[in-house]
Amino acid sequence: MDPIEILTALASPDGRADPYPCYAALHELGEAVPLGPETVIAVGYDAINSVLRDPGFRTSDAEIFARDFPDWQDHPVLVQGADWILNMNGAHHARVRSVIARAFTARRIAALEPAIAKMTDDLLDAMAKRDAVEFMHDFAYLLPVTVICELIGIPEEDREGFRPVARDLTEIFELQGPGMLPVTDAAAVELLAYFTGLAHKRRADPRDDLLSDLLALSDADDARLTGAELLHNLTLLLVAGFETTTNLLGNGLQIVLTQPDVGDAIRAGSVSAGAFVEEVLRYDSPVQLTSRIAYQTKVGGVAVGEGTEVVTLIGAGNRDPRRFAAPDTFDPLRTDGGPLSFGGGAHFCIGAALARLEGTVAFPRLLTRFPGIAPAGEPVRRDRLLLRGFDTLPVTLG
Ligand code: HEM
Repeated sequence: MDPIEILTALASPDGRADPYPCYAALHELGEAVPLGPETVIAVGYDAINSVLRDPGFRTSDAEIFARDFPDWQDHPVLVQGADWILNMNGAHHARVRSVIARAFTARRIAALEPAIAKMTDDLLDAMAKRDAVEFMHDFAYLLPVTVICELIGIPEEDREGFRPVARDLTEIFELQGPGMLPVTDAAAVELLAYFTGLAHKRRADPRDDLLSDLLALSDADDARLTGAELLHNLTLLLVAGFETTTNLLGNGLQIVLTQPDVGDAIRAGSVSAGAFVEEVLRYDSPVQLTSRIAYQTKVGGVAVGEGTEVVTLIGAGNRDPRRFAAPDTFDPLRTDGGPLSFGGGAHFCIGAALARLEGTVAFPRLLTRFPGIAPAGEPVRRDRLLLRGFDTLPVTLG
């Protein structure tokens, strides 16, 4: 099949709902598929892994924004985006990431486990009081947003309003061209105004939270982080911190709802929560793709010129038949795990341990508390390719 035909199918509503047949067709074409002189799609596990780990492939930074959007400085979302660690390279990236990473050490994240268990139980208590539950809002959104807001230091009364604005901002990650700029600009302006106000309050009255710690670091004489870099990356942490984990929880529950033996195995302890979460990440990754700009000459055996965009199809790499036995089977006991869902190399997800912890705490508690959990109507998928998840997942609790 022609790669353009496959990608057209992938970009259609049916392809976004179920991209996996398109990925299987792409795998037949090789590790990497050229799409004209300016774009290459990396579909094989090894090709994606090596692109993400090779500094010869860089993320789209301010230089690339200026190439692709000559008026980029007129767009708040791009001005903020240029300061996101996701969009920095080399020493610049290492400097800013090293400051933010202090909040995400394995020790700090592990210490959050009792608090996450308590938040989970509180949400399950609230769900138990209802006959029917919309899982995406009542649990999958509320748990990660509560966790990231507690970590940053965002007061409880401000949290409910974040879902729509964060969803608008994440439109910037989808490959849609300049059409999404007005919506994402508005969301960026709103979130920046919010964090500027909150930073003002925390400077006057510091607390034991990430925002107060980072403000102290950025206000120091030898600061390794400017005030703008701090505020802009808070926006990234907020949206990256719950959109993705919300989808991990929703995608995982949908697997249990359609394959009840998987839920039974988790309840019986024959499948560990950790193994289940890893397999959800592989089988139905909340992040399906990312991209790099090539300053290197080859991707998966395909020659690329400098400046070529390389789209790394993580969701396809996770189903690569050259890497995984029976890639389309959900098998939490597989011994060939190792999904690409958190990326790799310098930009490896800073919140991976936190997301895994939320999943491994939440699923066993949810499934043992409600052994009769079952679908209560058709789930509705979000019409997106990059961030893969559900809009609504109605359930009854039995
Ligand atoms: C299941 C949940 C999650 C998934 C699947 C996920 C996926 C990813 C991926 C694929 C990347 C690399 C992007 C690239 O290389 O271009 C990434 C980076 C990142 N993630 Fe996550 N993420 C998740 C949860 C989180 C959480 C909970 C946080 C924050 C608390 C977070 C914050 C970030 C940040 C700040 C980066 C940029 C790191 C850098 O560029 O140095 N993520 N994530």
